[in-house]
Amino acid sequence: MDIRDIEIDLRRRLSKKRFEHTLGVVVTSVDLARKYGENLEYARLAALLHDSAKELPLLDMQNLVKNFNLDDDMLRNGALLHGVAGMELAKERYGVTNSYILEAIRVHTTGKVNMSTLDKIIFLADYIEPNRDFPGLDIIRLAAKESLNKGVLAGYDMTIRHLLDQGLSIYPLTILGRNDIIRSIKGG
Ligand SMILES: [Fe+2]
Ligand SMILES: [Fe+2]
Repeated sequence: MDIRDIEIDLRRRLSKKRFEHTLGVVVTSVDLARKYGENLEYARLAALLHDSAKELPLLDMQNLVKNFNLDDDMLRNGALLHGVAGMELAKERYGVTNSYILEAIRVHTTGKVNMSTLDKIIFLADYIEPNRDFPGLDIIRLAAKESLNKGVLAGYDMTIRHLLDQGLSIYPLTILGRNDIIRSIKGG
């Protein structure tokens, strides 16, 4: 499917709010790709598809990922699972084959160690796209202007702080991803 057809399909499949968020992530990802030297078309496509599975029932997400060996924390939580499920939907429904793009869709919900530039761009754009509004957002937007890693770190911090405040569990890979970004920032 070409990118126009994908957009038309998503407009039909997603709620208005989710579709607007998606377009915000597209614009922001392309801006970040320009600023931080990533392929603009990769950024556009990964951003467009990043939440393609987000509004599916949990059972449908679980069906999409049945060939993966995922842990229960991931399988039971749509907020995490829609990354892997979105990657599968990008392959199956939209015919995306580029593994660099697919990976950025997969990891946008958790982060990971050794994120690529594209992984970081989608992860960060998801927080700072123009439709977003939450306390502390300015800090992430400022960090994103300073460097890609600082923006990503601010995103991790926001998520982890929120989970702590809500008394929720933190997915271990998110902690490992944050540690890794701190290492990258300190290493220069
Ligand atoms: Fe998402
Ligand atoms: Fe999103």
